[in-house]
Parts: sequence; structure tokens; C-alpha cells
Amino acid sequence: MTVEDVRVLDSDEATGHGGRAIAEMEAHAAHNYHPLPVVLAQGEGAWVEDVDGRRYLDMLAGYSALNFGHRHPRLVAAAERQLGRLTLTSRAFHNDLLGTFAAELSALCGMDTILPMNTGAEAVETAIKMARKWGYQAKGVAEGRARIIVFGGNFHGRTTTIISFSDDPGARAGFGPYTPGFVRVPYGDAAALAAAMDEDTVAVLLEPIQGEAGVIVPADGYLAAAREITSRHGALLWLDEVQTGIGRSGAWFDHQREGIVPDLVTVAKGLGNGFPIGACLATGATADLIQPGMHGSTFGGNPLASRAALTVLGILEPLLPQINAVGDQLAADLTGLPGVVAVHGRGLLRGVQLEKPVGAAMVAAGLEAGFILNAARPDRIRLAPPLIITSDDLVPFVAAWPALYSRALAA
Ligand SMILES: Cc1ncc(COP(=O)(O)O)c(C=O)c1O
Repeated sequence: MTVEDVRVLDSDEATGHGGRAIAEMEAHAAHNYHPLPVVLAQGEGAWVEDVDGRRYLDMLAGYSALNFGHRHPRLVAAAERQLGRLTLTSRAFHNDLLGTFAAELSALCGMDTILPMNTGAEAVETAIKMARKWGYQAKGVAEGRARIIVFGGNFHGRTTTIISFSDDPGARAGFGPYTPGFVRVPYGDAAALAAAMDEDTVAVLLEPIQGEAGVIVPADGYLAAAREITSRHGALLWLDEVQTGIGRSGAWFDHQREGIVPDLVTVAKGLGNGFPIGACLATGATADLIQPGMHGSTFGGNPLASRAALTVLGILEPLLPQINAVGDQLAADLTGLPGVVAVHGRGLLRGVQLEKPVGAAMVAAGLEAGFILNAARPDRIRLAPPLIITSDDLVPFVAAWPALYSRALAA
């Protein structure tokens, strides 16, 4: 136990061991989140423990980032080894891991190159720059006129440019002036997409499944239609797989189910299993336009992150069948339970559509019963547990569901 742990454990008896931690957060940390009243101190596998030693089944996994759960032994060993060797070089020098990581990740996705960054939003910003550069230099769009088509309900991060094309008032309002150059069309509607294309359209930015919107799955064939439409109009197809990629939906990358090859792919979250890393993958023609001095990041591509990601890439493959089997079992078990209208999603990214908009109360009831849940929308519970979770781990959750829902209704 560290000195810091003791300080928290010795804290205010009246409010419990976590009271001091919460009070300090309230007083000194910006209120940009509304966390549940639990102070987590450690985790192992699919389970986390609070400062009082109470265990919870983690059904959110760091917003879909901790694919291999907490403290996966191979990831811990790899990170410890790398911490003892080399952590940061900057890109002013080569390091002995980034090239191998870039080669493996791009091959797995059928792309040519990666541009490494640190978060999902940074990967998205990178792709915006690449798409615009390609539009001006390769497609011949007049300077300043490039358009990127985005979708209703999109979520791609929190930078000022990204929130400029969000339709979520909470994410957007009060942060203008907004970045121009984006056009929003309804998600899942191929005809609307085709109608929106014009000669200034440089890219279409699409989530294969909309995670933050509550796990919205478009009809089969939609990604293939988007591929055909973008190719026909000479625009890039950019898939944002920050949430769906690296096994979350039961495939390496969700779009591979439709057998298509996009021009740009953004990834982050599960790529480092909780270690901050993001990347923009591109085909040669697009990536080659980025030259020294045009883009970068002090930490992007650092050896520690590259080691974490390389380890992730080395352990995912054998888990894919289990992710699909456990996810399908979970969906089947929840279907027909009280309050469940439908269970959407693939693999271990599932959205439970509720009869009543009691998501927040459901999350509170879940916490009391030892389950960490997330309501992506008032009537949608998003389930994104670590991919290593087993059907046995999920039995108590499924068994508790009817009681959680009736407690939520009564709240
Ligand atoms: C599809 C998608 N893109 C981008 C992001 C932003 O990632 P980050 O929070 O790492 O900036 C998210 C985060 O939820 C996401 O779901």
C-alpha cells in the first residue's frame, strides 16, 4: 500500500473511505464528468474493487478501452519490461518498436501506413487533416472548399473541430465559433449519403456501429454501400473504429465483416488496453501527402505505447471466437427479460433498449448490486465489458437484471 492509499483510507469516516477522494475531486477537479459515487482502487480481469474492498463486475471497461481487462499479466509484464528500457524518444529519432508496431497494425487492417497519436480524438483530427490534404492535392478541390460528410448521432471526440459537427447540444453549445467544412446526413440511409455527395466532398466519416449514441447498428450492406458511393464520387471512405475496432465487435475491425477496404481508419481505445494510444491508418496515396513538419505529437509513437499496442496485437486473435460466443449468449439471455425491448450490437458491444427511460436509475441500482453499468442514452444501457469476460462471469448479472429493472422503475 502506498502513502497515497493510506491518506484516502484514513479519510472522513462519516462519508466512508472514499469520501475524502470524492470531496477533493468536487473541490479541485473540473466537473466535466458526473462520476458514480464509487472510488475504485484496483482491478483484476473483469472485476474492480473500491477503497472499501467491495467488488464490482466492470461492464464498461474504460468506455470500451480495457479489452483485456485490468492488469492482464502479459500486458503488465510487457509494460514493466519496457519501462525499464526506454519510454520516450520523440519522433526526432527512431525507436526500435514503432516500425514493427506500424507494420503489424497496418497489415491487420489491410492498410499501408499508420500515423500514431495518443487518443481517439487526436487520431480523428489527424484523419481530417489527411483527408483535406488529399482533397486539395490529389482530387483537385479548390483551396478552402473541402467537405467531409458526417452522420446524425455521431461521436468522434471532444476537440473544437470535432464538436463542430456533433449534433449533441451538450457537447457543442457555447464552444463556437465552429469549424466549417462538414455536412451531416442521417445515419444508416445510403440514399441520403449518395444525395449529399458533390465534387468538393473529400471524405465520408462513418462509425461502423454508433457506440456513444447507444449502440446503433446500421443494416447489413450499409458499409459496402458507403464504399461504392465514395468510390463512385472519388471521395475517401474513412471508418472511425475507435470504439468498434481491436476486437470489440468480435472482429479485428468491424468493417472487415463486409469485406471492404476503406481509405482511412481511426483507432484508439482498445489498441493500448488502457494505455493512451491512437492511430490514423491510411492507404499510401493519402498518407504520402503528409510530409515532415505538417503534423506530429511529442508522445505519439513512443516506445512504451508501441510496446503496449504490440502486445495487444499479439494476444487478440485467439479470443475472437469467445468474444462472439459470449456476446451472443449475453444478448440471448437478456432478450425477453423485464424492461428489455431489444438487444443491439455485435460481439461485446451491446446496447440494451429499455421499455422506459430509466437508464440512470438502472445504473444506480447496478452499482448498489455490484455491477458497473453505463446508460449511453436514457433508454439505452451500453454493455462493453472486457473481452476476456466469460459467460460464467455474466450469470449473476443476467440473474440480477429483473430486480435491477424493477428497482429502477420504483426510483
Ligand atoms: C467512435 C469514436 N471516435 C473517437 C472517440 C474519441 O476518443 P478519445 O476519448 O480517446 O479521444 C470515441 C470515444 O468514445 C469514439 O467512440
